[in-house]
Amino acid sequence: MPPSSSQALAHTPTVQETPVPVPAAPSAQTPAPVRVTLVVGSARDGRLAPDVAAWFTRVAEARDDLVVDVVDVAKTPLPASLDPDDPVARALSPRLAAAEAFVVVVPEYNRSVPGTLKTLIDSFQAEWRAKPVGFVSYGLSMAGGVRAVEHLRQIFAEFHAVGMKDIVSFPRILEHYDADGRFPADAEGAGGAAKLMLNQLLWWARALREAKSVHPYEY
Ligand SMILES: Cc1cc2nc3c(=O)[nH]c(=O)nc-3n(C[C@H](O)[C@H](O)[C@H](O)COP(=O)(O)O)c2cc1C
Repeated sequence: MPPSSSQALAHTPTVQETPVPVPAAPSAQTPAPVRVTLVVGSARDGRLAPDVAAWFTRVAEARDDLVVDVVDVAKTPLPASLDPDDPVARALSPRLAAAEAFVVVVPEYNRSVPGTLKTLIDSFQAEWRAKPVGFVSYGLSMAGGVRAVEHLRQIFAEFHAVGMKDIVSFPRILEHYDADGRFPADAEGAGGAAKLMLNQLLWWARALREAKSVHPYEY
């Protein structure tokens, strides 16, 4: 039988009882974690993107100052009509809109971005608007996907989105697998690059969160 209210009030915890930890409420000192959406930008059969995205997700999720949502272009195919009323686009819109920052995992295809990624970007507008964007790039050549990243910077500028200066880049991607097929072989070096990029991304995301709470971006 459940205790009456007087019994509940009279209950005195014994020393054996462990108090339930109460998570600290977000405050000015500890801002709420930044909502980061990771966009996985390859849909090719046999793609390497899941290895890169899984590693980056692990690195990001080890931090307590952000939360990650993953949107994979292979799992959310969008029509070439770029119709915002397409059911897949409509379903995805609130998730992208909720993001305070994006990280795009992008391979280089013919010195640019995969068509499926471009279709995803072109299918939305306000969802990208005035948000910071980080990049994790790779390719078979020494370029490491940076030419795709430079194109993404131009594309995201259309949405008043801000590209982070420092990127995570894997030139000659196949050389970043170790003898047992684990990615990336140099987890420490790659982790350092990811940390720098994420620190920049979170600075912008928090600054924009604050600014938007005072002045909505209307330009
Ligand atoms: C159509 C196509 C074009 C490519 N063009 C380039 C390129 O310009 N530069 C480069 O470094 N790698 C290029 N590659 C190699 C890809 O970057 C590499 O295969 C990478 O693994 C692709 O990512 P994914 O496996 O996740 O799809 C190209 C691959 C494809 C399929």
